[in-house]
Amino acid sequence: MESIFLAACRGQSTPRPPLWLMRQAGRYLPEYRDVRKQVTFLELCKTPALAVEVTLQPIRRFGFDAAILFSDLLIPLEAMGLPVVFTEAGPSLPDPVRSAEDLKRMAIFDPWERTPFVYETIRVLKDKLGNTPLIGFAGAPFTTATYAIEGKTGKHFVETKKLFHRDPETAHRLLGLIEAATRAYLLAQVAAGAQAIQLFDSWVGVVSPEEWDEFVCGPTQALIAAIKATGVPVIYFPNGATTILDRIARVGADVYSIDWRLPLGEARKRLASGTSAPFAIQGNLDPALLLGPEDGLRKQVAKVLDEGGGKGHIFNLGHGIYPESPIASVEALVRAVRGN
Ligand code: CP3
Repeated sequence: MESIFLAACRGQSTPRPPLWLMRQAGRYLPEYRDVRKQVTFLELCKTPALAVEVTLQPIRRFGFDAAILFSDLLIPLEAMGLPVVFTEAGPSLPDPVRSAEDLKRMAIFDPWERTPFVYETIRVLKDKLGNTPLIGFAGAPFTTATYAIEGKTGKHFVETKKLFHRDPETAHRLLGLIEAATRAYLLAQVAAGAQAIQLFDSWVGVVSPEEWDEFVCGPTQALIAAIKATGVPVIYFPNGATTILDRIARVGADVYSIDWRLPLGEARKRLASGTSAPFAIQGNLDPALLLGPEDGLRKQVAKVLDEGGGKGHIFNLGHGIYPESPIASVEALVRAVRGN
């Protein structure tokens, strides 16, 4: 029997909405912090035995309906030729790309050769997960490009916007190159056994409708079409961009993951106004509710379930879980979504 997660990705009704959480493997888990004490974050990503272990931790503890590959959005950028370092303050790329000349330092890569640890992790996970489906992922072209251009997590994305408006040709070439590299990287994840793919567009909320049309829509759409051609469902997460959901629906994803800034019913309407294709939705509990008392959490879970409509809805947070989230809150969330 197909899992309730994959059924919901296809828009089918399920006995209850499937549940997983963005960033479900991470620092809110004491068992994750124990593993992290022994290695750096990048070592953790690149050591299959450890990446497998931390991917499985939230499945063991909470029985979530899908596992997500433990890795990072910046792994393909490193493989394309940009060194990446992780500090206490977050990721940093010391040699960012801000001109046509800089772009020469980046290239498409052979994923099996440059990122073999990703595929080994997937292969072992498939063996251990049993009936729980495995989600592979990458950054969407725009969000990945912001890291290449800004050299860190952007605040106002000034360098990105500068490149877009002062040198649009280089911006188009950079996005095209990232799309091509990400495509090969993700097709290999599917070949290795990933059963769904999520594209994180964590910072796309900063683009205007015109920038979306000119720079972002094309490569995102091309990447999604290439993955969908394998038969695996694609989840697209346009964080912070609910104001342009009509345009976003043109990318042709199977599932749209919605942040907490708009009720799911309204999000469905806005998406439907931009496409005649069927789609499912994922989301969208405000992750901050896990920091408050259980009654507030239960009330909002009930609202999200109601807005989700019971068909083609995957329950998730509106963005990643905060490291400060108490385990007891996650347990309460799981009970509330499962109706016990
Ligand atoms: O969801 C999961 O459980 C799978 C693991 C996962 C991580 N990063 C692990 C991680 C996933 C899917 C990502 C994707 C990712 N990485 C995104 C998109 C998702 C989102 O939240 O929008 C982004 C923007 C990145 C880049 C990145 N990696 C940043 C900005 C940071 C620093 C911020 C932070 O949370 O510390 C990371 C580090 C990172 N990625 C950690 C984890 C568990 C923390 C590292 C540690 O253990 O110290």
